[in-house]
Amino acid sequence: MITSFPLSKFEQLKTPFYYYNTTLLRETLQSILSNIQGNYCVHYAIKANANPKILKVIKEYGLGIDCVSGGEIEAAVNAGFDPQKIVFAGVGKSDWEINLGLDYNILCFNVESIPELEVINELAEKKNKIANIAFRINPNVGAHTHANITTGLAENKFGIDMEDMDYVIELAKKMNYVRFIGLHFHIGSQILEMDDFIALCNRVNELQRKLFAKQIIIDHINVGGGLGIDYKHPNRNPIPDFKQYFSTYQKHLKLQANQTLHFELGRAVVAQCGTLISRTLYVKQGHHKQFAILDAGMTDLIRPALYQAYHKIENISSDEAKERYDVVGPICESSDVFGKAVDLNKVHRGDLIAIRSTGAYGETMASQYNCRTLPPSYTSDELL
Ligand code: LLP
Repeated sequence: MITSFPLSKFEQLKTPFYYYNTTLLRETLQSILSNIQGNYCVHYAIKANANPKILKVIKEYGLGIDCVSGGEIEAAVNAGFDPQKIVFAGVGKSDWEINLGLDYNILCFNVESIPELEVINELAEKKNKIANIAFRINPNVGAHTHANITTGLAENKFGIDMEDMDYVIELAKKMNYVRFIGLHFHIGSQILEMDDFIALCNRVNELQRKLFAKQIIIDHINVGGGLGIDYKHPNRNPIPDFKQYFSTYQKHLKLQANQTLHFELGRAVVAQCGTLISRTLYVKQGHHKQFAILDAGMTDLIRPALYQAYHKIENISSDEAKERYDVVGPICESSDVFGKAVDLNKVHRGDLIAIRSTGAYGETMASQYNCRTLPPSYTSDELL
């Protein structure tokens, strides 16, 4: 396992930038493949990281793709992914995005409302095509994670209420240009308690029993993504426990004959392979604390500002005794803070600071606020 960084290479590069350890990414993908069964299909949730260099590696492992926009469909197709392995979710699909999905004959539209179902049927009719659809059912299962990233509760905007499931299925069956092929669920993100996934399995079993009683047989069950990672200990746990995750589903989800079980994993695939590397601009002494002011800001990595998310921060240029810092960026926002009271090896102007576990929802959520440029990226292969 490579956890050390190519420091001398880093020193020659303009900061901030994302660094991706492709060896770790490959080991992670290999671990996924080693722990799935024949009737499992893993779609990489491209929203986590759509960097072409990352997609190129993921593609080698034969994963499908989970998209939530036309732009993501284009990114996946451009990276060479098979449109037949693309699933397309999202509460607000524009007409052009639906048309794009139809043109590429994607595997499935994950439909989140009746008006959306009607529009897909209409647009498919215009093209004289039949769109495969799955209904995203809101299972009303809570996940033990941050309130902003739990999605499976009845109060969320996502999905169709369980009580309406039979009705929407009947509706779809009457339509000529959609083919109902499955059910889709997703309860949230950064979930580490297997009990949450077990609760989802139980719910899916219950819904499947209801459908079976009505002789409605479906080919595809999609349980979404959500497996979390160890942000506190990226070195100790660089690869999520996929064995435990997939065996939880194997044990608790009752699949019927010939059903395929789909997963949409994002964070668990890419988070640990990414690190945001930045330089210390200034060390500022306050009256009660000291600040390490970096050249990276919330425009490069918004998770701490947006979700108070924890990322491990390391001074990789110094081995002096640790001191305590608030680690902040240069953006004109008080929330532009990466960590408060962080113990770092004594920091000097110019020191390189690594913000770990940023391969997921880092680069993809970057912005150009304050007229900043988007951060570039380098892979370990490129910096050999
Ligand atoms: N499937 C659906 C329908 C989703 O909405 C998501 C994530 C995924 C799959 C992938 O979830 P994952 O395996 O990555 O947990 N920006 C937030 C996370 C938002 C997740 C949105 N949906 C963050 O930085 O934590």
